[in-house]
Amino acid sequence: MRTSRIPGFYNLPMDERLEIVKEFAGLTDEEVEVLREGKLPREVADHMIENVIGLYSLPFAIATNFLINGKDYLIPMVIEEPSVVAAASNAAKMARDSGGFEAEATDSIMISQIQVVKVPDLEEAIRRIMAEKDKLIAAANEMDPLLTRLGGGARDLEVRVVGTEAGPMLIVHLLVDTLDAMGANTVNTMAEGLAPTIERLTGGKVYLRIISNLADRRLARAKAKFSKAAIGGEEVVEGIMWAYRFAKYDPYRAATHNKGIMNGIIAVALATGQDTRALEAGAHSYAARSGKYTTLTNYWVDDNGDLWGSIELPLAVGTVGGVVRVHPIAKIALKILGVERARELAMVMASVGLAQNFAALRALATEGIQAGHMKLHARNIAMSVGASPSEVDEVVERMIRERKINFERAKQILEEMRSGKKA
Ligand code: MEV
Repeated sequence: MRTSRIPGFYNLPMDERLEIVKEFAGLTDEEVEVLREGKLPREVADHMIENVIGLYSLPFAIATNFLINGKDYLIPMVIEEPSVVAAASNAAKMARDSGGFEAEATDSIMISQIQVVKVPDLEEAIRRIMAEKDKLIAAANEMDPLLTRLGGGARDLEVRVVGTEAGPMLIVHLLVDTLDAMGANTVNTMAEGLAPTIERLTGGKVYLRIISNLADRRLARAKAKFSKAAIGGEEVVEGIMWAYRFAKYDPYRAATHNKGIMNGIIAVALATGQDTRALEAGAHSYAARSGKYTTLTNYWVDDNGDLWGSIELPLAVGTVGGVVRVHPIAKIALKILGVERARELAMVMASVGLAQNFAALRALATEGIQAGHMKLHARNIAMSVGASPSEVDEVVERMIRERKINFERAKQILEEMRSGKKA
């Protein structure tokens, strides 16, 4: 059976993990080789950005245990920070005990902004734009016939007035369903294309014509139950609720709380070739939408005393175009996920964000995060001095107990264990 519940995955050698993922996702030998070597052809890199002189690698890992809307996912994550992948997998395991994550996403509606200044008569300008709305939408759609043919395209147009110290600006929003594309290129082209008509209709001057990364019409949501039995009892539930309230009411804490969420989301975004800065900008501006910066997640306790968590944030991600089209590893990451549609990718990423946040709050409200970090650090050291999967736990446990986590001690312990065994 295809399951993401793979006990002991973290203890296996890298190649064995890769073999399991190959099987799970039906990867070809060639794809396995690309992943193994972290290959991005130099000539592809040279066409991606300017002035390229080399490549830069990061670890590509897999979070296990994710069950989202009843489907099993192995989650590709690219990140430099230890503990993130382990925490996500662990949280997903706890959620799994109560049925996993329930997730949903809106259509892929992006906002394109056109800024008009020095409008002689604001009311008249708004009236004229609204009278021409259908024609403007149709004109925008002519700029991307393929998107329109596929069922996407410009859907609506809205006008806002924003005051400044130099007088009011008229801001036109074009709402575009970009389907499985992130959509920045499409909506920027449409905004630039419509600008001359908007100038003519308003009698003003258009300056900026650009996407808004506050993609609040392109939201993903996820929720999960973490039963008190699975997460360590009532006291843990209470600790997590206080950790949540801390972030909900204190922006200093909310920034770190949301950073933890983005640890998960950005790791999946990097693996799958997304615009990570757009995602960060969207998430944090959405967190401040009420005028006060707050959490992207919510928690509550049900009548049974079990903890529930939910997340809602903009996730402008694509499964076609952009980096996904050119980067061989991004394509493989999507294949591992088994995801073709952007909405599904957004649902997965929201679930990972929630898992990551839950794991951080649970650790912070109990033993703190350093213990976990040290354990992972000790495990890496134990493995790097050659401890086998059956030896790792003991080497780690002894180094932590002795508070001596270093290569020398790991080597000594291993030698002692092995000579003890022989004796
Ligand atoms: C560290 O990368 C992330 C955390 O600080 C998140 C949090 O405090 O909620 C552990």
